[in-house]
Amino acid sequence: MKAWEVRETTGLDGLVLNPDRAEPKPGQGQIVVQIRAAALNYRDQGVIKGAYGYTKFPVIPLSDGAGAVVAIGPGVTQFKVGDRVASTFFQRWTGGHIPADASKNSLGGMIDGVLAEYALLNETGAVHTPGHLSFEEAATLPCAALTAWNALVTTGQIKAGDTVAILGTGGVACFGLQFAKMHGAFVFHTSSSDEKLERVGSMGADALINYKTTPDWDKEILKQTEGAGVDHILEVGGAGTLEKSMNAVRQGGSIYVIGALAGPGSINPRAINRKSICLQGIHVGSREMFADMNRAIALHGLKPAIDQVFGFDDVKAAYAHQQDAKHFGKTVIAI
Ligand SMILES: NC(=O)c1ccc[n+]([C@@H]2O[C@H](COP(=O)([O-])OP(=O)(O)OC[C@H]3O[C@@H](n4cnc5c(N)ncnc54)[C@H](OP(=O)(O)O)[C@@H]3O)[C@@H](O)[C@H]2O)c1
Repeated sequence: MKAWEVRETTGLDGLVLNPDRAEPKPGQGQIVVQIRAAALNYRDQGVIKGAYGYTKFPVIPLSDGAGAVVAIGPGVTQFKVGDRVASTFFQRWTGGHIPADASKNSLGGMIDGVLAEYALLNETGAVHTPGHLSFEEAATLPCAALTAWNALVTTGQIKAGDTVAILGTGGVACFGLQFAKMHGAFVFHTSSSDEKLERVGSMGADALINYKTTPDWDKEILKQTEGAGVDHILEVGGAGTLEKSMNAVRQGGSIYVIGALAGPGSINPRAINRKSICLQGIHVGSREMFADMNRAIALHGLKPAIDQVFGFDDVKAAYAHQQDAKHFGKTVIAI
């Protein structure tokens, strides 16, 4: 089969198309999926640059794929040949608290991922996809969508009338907006681009703030909430934005610590106790959460925001497109 491989952590140069890699065979409790589409996450940029540890080279990158089951191993009970499925980011986090070794079983990092014609998955490392989604759309769900769902819905227990701040217009952010609106919340959405703000506005964002022209976006949120602050913040900026998020959240509000897009920074921890802020780390989510999310996506007919679909031979152009933050929502590769 054809498979992209990270052979060296030297960026795009270390990413090589292998035209003749052995096709996987399913063992006990495993399925083989013919991957029809895969989606990029910010994490995948770090993988090709060596920002994460590996157990072996070469490794097939990307955690997020969707396709059809073509073979099942002994003992598989939840899938049959022909089922449309998506991969789960963690192959062994089925439910409950995140296990200590979750990252060792994350696709496209420590173990082979899905940027190939076929992928070998644990039966417990796949879910059925919502029936109304194409393979390209379903491929966007495993990491970005589930992270936003875990933060706002599973952990945050968001409800109608809540207020949410969402930073930027990448994959996690766009799903965060859609789930917040699904639950009847009011959304403050920030972006570096007025054009992207218009797009989130058309998706239902209620208040739009350009964080380049309004660098004190935290003060703007306080102004617009009459000093109260917001109930939830989807924090994808990390150290570089956390201080502002702590300013913009309400007393007793929740900040979901997800990403590190904004570079270095420092925080004064005093506000955490003074405002009784809940700072909650989020690491994607479990298979159980994924199934819950898919039920809601199917019921509401939610369609992921896809920026662009690249061909399997144009994988490097897809990485470059995402790296330059030109995208809105998800960048997808059709296989
Ligand atoms: N903890 C987890 O489980 C988990 C899961 C998924 C992702 N993440 C992390 O979450 C972050 C987002 O991931 P992603 O895949 O959604 O990324 P992405 O699609 O590449 O999002 C990039 C967008 O983020 C926005 N952005 C960049 N710098 C920003 C800043 N200083 N302030 C506010 N927004 C900024 C930009 O939006 P505009 O162009 O609109 O300005 C940019 O287009 C990454 O750090 C990623 O590693 C963590």
